[in-house]
Amino acid sequence: MPGFLILNGPNLNLLGTRQPEVYGRTTLADVEGMCRAHGEKIGVGVEFEQSNHEGALIDAIHGTRGRLDGLILNAGAYTHTSLALMDAISSAEIPAIELHLSNVHAREEFRHKSYIARVAVGVICGFGARGYTLAMDAMLSHLETRK
Ligand code: DQA
Repeated sequence: MPGFLILNGPNLNLLGTRQPEVYGRTTLADVEGMCRAHGEKIGVGVEFEQSNHEGALIDAIHGTRGRLDGLILNAGAYTHTSLALMDAISSAEIPAIELHLSNVHAREEFRHKSYIARVAVGVICGFGARGYTLAMDAMLSHLETRK
């Protein structure tokens, strides 16, 4: 059974209460529940983590190396700033999908730049919490077509 790490970056622990007009009212615990249920349905093992700290996110990405099959990363604002997260994905040699709840391209200019996208298989954004299960399906189909 393939295993995915679904990794969430800074401020996403406040999901549901943080700017609900932008990010919705679904909490991160709800999202985790949705991902775990979806994993059971499609036959994927799910590890789910969140950190507000760049180094902890890097450690989590390194921890996937040779152990898990796919990374789904909502890096929050680090998406737009972190060369170190980009390098961590390349170093771990794991297929990654960049994920955002909001459509970052319809928002401020500074959210249009992504370091993660350069090393990602693809990007999903703008579908709210549903994006997480869409990303799981996309990753599974990517792994299947790559075989
Ligand atoms: C976000 C978009 C980022 O620009 C922002 O900094 C976040 C959340 C999203 O899920 O829409 O923290 O990654």
